Amino acid sequence: MELPFAESYKIKMVESIKRSTRQDRKKWIEEADYNLFNIKSDRVFIDLLTDSGTGAMSDKQWSEMMLGDESYAGASSFFKLKDAIKDITGFDYFLPTHQGRAAENVLFSSKIKEGDIIPGNSHFDTTKGHIEYRKAHAIDCTIDEAFITTLDHPFKGNVDLNKLEDVLKSHPKEKIPLIILTITCNSSGGQPVSMENMRALKEMADKYGIQVFFDSARFAENAYFIKMREEAYKDMSIREIVREMFSYADGMTMSSKKDAIVNMGGFIGFRHEEDYDKASVFNILFEGYLSYGGMSGRDMNALAQGLYDGTEFDYLDTRIKQVAYLGKKLKDYGIPIQYPYGGHAIFIDARKFLPKVPKEQYIAQTLGIEIYIEGGVRGVEIGTLLADRDPETGENRYPDLELLRLAIPRRVYTNNHMDYIAAAIINVYDRRDQIKTGFEIVKEAPILRHFTVKLKKI
Ligand code: F0G
Repeated sequence: MELPFAESYKIKMVESIKRSTRQDRKKWIEEADYNLFNIKSDRVFIDLLTDSGTGAMSDKQWSEMMLGDESYAGASSFFKLKDAIKDITGFDYFLPTHQGRAAENVLFSSKIKEGDIIPGNSHFDTTKGHIEYRKAHAIDCTIDEAFITTLDHPFKGNVDLNKLEDVLKSHPKEKIPLIILTITCNSSGGQPVSMENMRALKEMADKYGIQVFFDSARFAENAYFIKMREEAYKDMSIREIVREMFSYADGMTMSSKKDAIVNMGGFIGFRHEEDYDKASVFNILFEGYLSYGGMSGRDMNALAQGLYDGTEFDYLDTRIKQVAYLGKKLKDYGIPIQYPYGGHAIFIDARKFLPKVPKEQYIAQTLGIEIYIEGGVRGVEIGTLLADRDPETGENRYPDLELLRLAIPRRVYTNNHMDYIAAAIINVYDRRDQIKTGFEIVKEAPILRHFTVKLKKI
């Protein structure tokens, strides 16, 4: 008999999670103004709000916590992290930050000014937020295939190089401080970018004299997909692939809360000393001194170890296969999800799931609320709420995809949990014809409104 697949780790510490009744959950979600961010975590049975900062650290990472050096300047933890970053990514210079959006804030403060254009594949919401806050524009050059959820394409995070070249040709070089490539591309469904696309993009950027930075939160998952899907890389190790990927970038921002499996942390990697120098000023201003930048010594140690944990093939294989296990359960029942399965999450196509709910009534949010009420499973809307209003017209933006994301924390849940999640979603699917109305906004913030929005049932 062929041996089945099994997780590449065993469990040393557990945390209880609480069941609740449908009646409880109906009351709790109303109290939370129908905003899933507003629900207390002990009112959630399985939490798929995010894979960010929610992973389980390894015994090696916890050991490293005890060895942290909390010196203000020149801590050994800083040098440990610097060596790990150099080893894994190849970048000589780095700045620690407290998380990914802080890395964006520091980097963009040194690079982006009003009226600038920042092309790339679909920018993540904080990235776009930081660009638009500076009155600059993020231009999405993702391939069209990415927006057809049913289409199975191996690299839906790829940039359409024709679209990119049009942008590069139609604006003066001084207006384009950098191109941002998000790996994997969260906003298009946790979809990877191929090595071929990275290489070609860098060649084009060099031709136009423009820098490329990677938004690298899930770089290791991207490398795994390259190994599995790009013929030339099938025999290379994840770390070799990662090194080649970053060779096509002038720098990177990192939310370490994802692929480096820590609960908090981030950094910026730089190839060029002058970029590091310019950003350093803002790091001291916003984050902290250069050798800690918003992180404690123990956190830098755990992060250094996490970069190694997160780039091990066996770990990544377990991780990506668990996400696919959930994806297949939903697929087999005919639930409309994005293909191929994402690296960190399964994305449900909410417009197809709930065709009777009008787009003005926040379809994906409606679905997220139904699934929470059904089973205490918390997903997150990646749709009209997240897309915010157009900063110029004030109108709602209706994105090409209206998705509900089920993000799977790393090394946290078992496949029994995946079975439970699938059952809850299937139950909602079975009664989808009765769900005809959604929600309206009572109160919202001018930017990144999804975090704090208050909603009312229609
Ligand atoms: N870039 C990408 C691609 C991300 O997915 C995130 C965060 C960030 C940057 C910002 O990093 O949270 O450390 O400040 N994504 C989380 C998510 C929040 O749920 O997908 P951060």
